[in-house]
Amino acid sequence: MSIYLVTGGAGFIGSHVVEELLARGERVRVLDDLSSGSKENLAGALDRIEFAEADIRDLDRIRPLFSGADYVIHLAARSSVVLSVEDPVTSTAVNIGGTVNVLVAARDARVRRVVFADSAAVYGDNPELPRVETQEPQPLSPYALTKLTGEYYCRIFTSVFELEAVPLRFFNIFGPRQNPHSPYTGVLSKFIVAYLQNRTPVIFGDGEQSRDFTYVANVVDAVLRACTAPSAPGQAINVGVGASFTLNQVIAILNRIFEKDIRPRYDAPRAGDVRHSRADVGRARQLLGYEPIVGFEEGLRRTVAWYQGALGGKAGAA
Ligand code: NAD
Ligand code: UD1
Repeated sequence: MSIYLVTGGAGFIGSHVVEELLARGERVRVLDDLSSGSKENLAGALDRIEFAEADIRDLDRIRPLFSGADYVIHLAARSSVVLSVEDPVTSTAVNIGGTVNVLVAARDARVRRVVFADSAAVYGDNPELPRVETQEPQPLSPYALTKLTGEYYCRIFTSVFELEAVPLRFFNIFGPRQNPHSPYTGVLSKFIVAYLQNRTPVIFGDGEQSRDFTYVANVVDAVLRACTAPSAPGQAINVGVGASFTLNQVIAILNRIFEKDIRPRYDAPRAGDVRHSRADVGRARQLLGYEPIVGFEEGLRRTVAWYQGALGGKAGAA
């Protein structure tokens, strides 16, 4: 049994990581400031974990939480591109300053390895698809730049301090518990909630932008593999599915699932938005033994079922 410290463990992805760690019989400690996550996400797990409400920007406060930890899974961040455009100062302080604090605390506590939630946003609008880790990053938003910086910090901590750190470039992750109430949540969450509440989904731009929508179980599997895979440290690794869908295609699929014929409303494109995104997962296969487990449509069906329950079964899906 090992001790895992999960920063951002009360968030969407974090709560799934915690659930899987507990299912594997591991000991779990969560550090979260509950700014976008909630204890509700950890319902059923709270009495089996150590939970600390703390802000990664406060090094003195978080330091003791690293004591005795074998692995650190660092997910705490301001995860929204839009928020980083509206308030780059806070996104920078949390995502860069906070990440440096996490790396310093991990180094000083001599943890075995840190896995860092990096992002496909670092690729920006590099025209080459699929995204391969050897492509030159072209960050388009403050958020993307914070993630790229975190990635470089991981590399530097590995080379300078011999702290094993693995940046995983997550593509667009979706699934149960992705915040159904926040205006800054992922697009699929927003669309599904709109369908369930009989509201018109809004598309920013022409809807032809595409994403490698990746069901959360896939990323949980990759994260846990990255904690122990011998060759993982030292380089960024894509975690996606390797297929992409445009937002217009997503609407067509949701119409099928919900047996509706909803037409979205088209609005101005978002500042800092990436046009296309699709992962090459060759490196993850090679270094982590990763293989996507759940495809897009199956993931979407599971997610819709969860939102139906979470929103009180209101209106909607067939
Ligand atoms: P989320 O917002 O649900 O989770 C982030 C968690 O971090 C929340 O529980 C929040 O309360 C916590 N947090 C925020 N600031 C903090 C601070 N200063 N101190 C301590 N805790 C803090 O988002 P998510 O979708 O679960 O994302 C998890 C991680 O994965 C983030 O680092 C995000 O950037 C990254 N990521 C997400 C996606 C995606 O598609 N969801 C894709 C790429 C990368
Ligand atoms: C998402 C993640 C980010 C991650 C990145 C990796 C969230 C909130 N953001 O960013 O953490 O690092 O993937 O690729 O999970 N859109 C609409 N209508 C809406 C909402 C969004 O048309 O109501 C569009 C956006 O303009 C964008 C696309 O949908 O073109 C995806 O947006 P979003 O879900 O916010 O994700 P990313 O910005 O790709």
